[in-house]
Amino acid sequence: MCHSHRGRCVTVHFIGAGPGAADLLTLRGRDIIAACPVCLYAGSLVPQEVLQHCPEGTRVVNTAPMDLDSIVDEISQAHVAGHDIARLHSGDLSVWSAMGEQMRRLGELNIPVSVTPGVPSFAAAAAAIGAELTLPGLAQSVVLTRTPGRASSMPPGETLTNFAATGATLAIHLSIQNLATVVADLPPAYGAECPVAVVYRASWPDEQIYRATLSTIENILCTNVSRTALILVGPALAGKGFDESCLYAAGYDRRYRPQTADSPWSGWCHGND
Ligand SMILES: C[S@@+](CC[C@H](N)C(=O)[O-])C[C@H]1O[C@@H](n2cnc3c(N)ncnc32)[C@H](O)[C@@H]1O
Repeated sequence: MCHSHRGRCVTVHFIGAGPGAADLLTLRGRDIIAACPVCLYAGSLVPQEVLQHCPEGTRVVNTAPMDLDSIVDEISQAHVAGHDIARLHSGDLSVWSAMGEQMRRLGELNIPVSVTPGVPSFAAAAAAIGAELTLPGLAQSVVLTRTPGRASSMPPGETLTNFAATGATLAIHLSIQNLATVVADLPPAYGAECPVAVVYRASWPDEQIYRATLSTIENILCTNVSRTALILVGPALAGKGFDESCLYAAGYDRRYRPQTADSPWSGWCHGND
């Protein structure tokens, strides 16, 4: 049962605020922010410009210095007062957002939630280097992963060497401080000349891009790149030596482009599927 205020349920709206550039917020995210009198944001990575969508008089709270108990207290107080809450996290909420633990607490308190996705940082990093991470014949999977950190260990099977054995493109988060481990663990599977891109603060005004190989990336990286960077690794980053997809191949029989009268797609038109 939700807490209602004047007959209306009040809700915590989790919103992915995108990777940094203020115009990479979704329209839905923007509109929800504009409708909420309370806004909690993860101040370490959510850009200030996004907060300009808050209506005048909004209670705006930076949760970077707060612990989980105080965040939940802040939300509960707003909820009891009947205020919808915009809860902003960087990138998308499906990875490394701490949304799960907040949702669990809010569930225990019967506080309703909604979730609005955001542009994830791995997509912004791929855009910054103009790369498709799944090139036919080279890689058809992207592994979103990290290395262990001070506050987070990794489940036993989720090692870089295990993921590397697949040959997939790796998007390694939260790990720029572990670059030495990354370049030590991956060459047996990928080879020392495998391309690597490090994108620091993708889509922010001070974005930096470094492109090298597993054997050279450490030498070219600027020492100020010590956080908020994505490490992309895999053969697809070379952007060459891949096959063309069947999708646009001239003779490929498909729903939108049947090749013969007896094609299973012949006669199919948009809207009758
Ligand atoms: C706590 S996680 C947040 C991930 C976020 N939820 C997402 O969808 O990307 C923070 C890590 O994401 C990556 N990251 C976040 N924003 C980034 C950006 N603009 N450029 C490069 N990496 C970024 C970095 O690896 C950083 O250490």
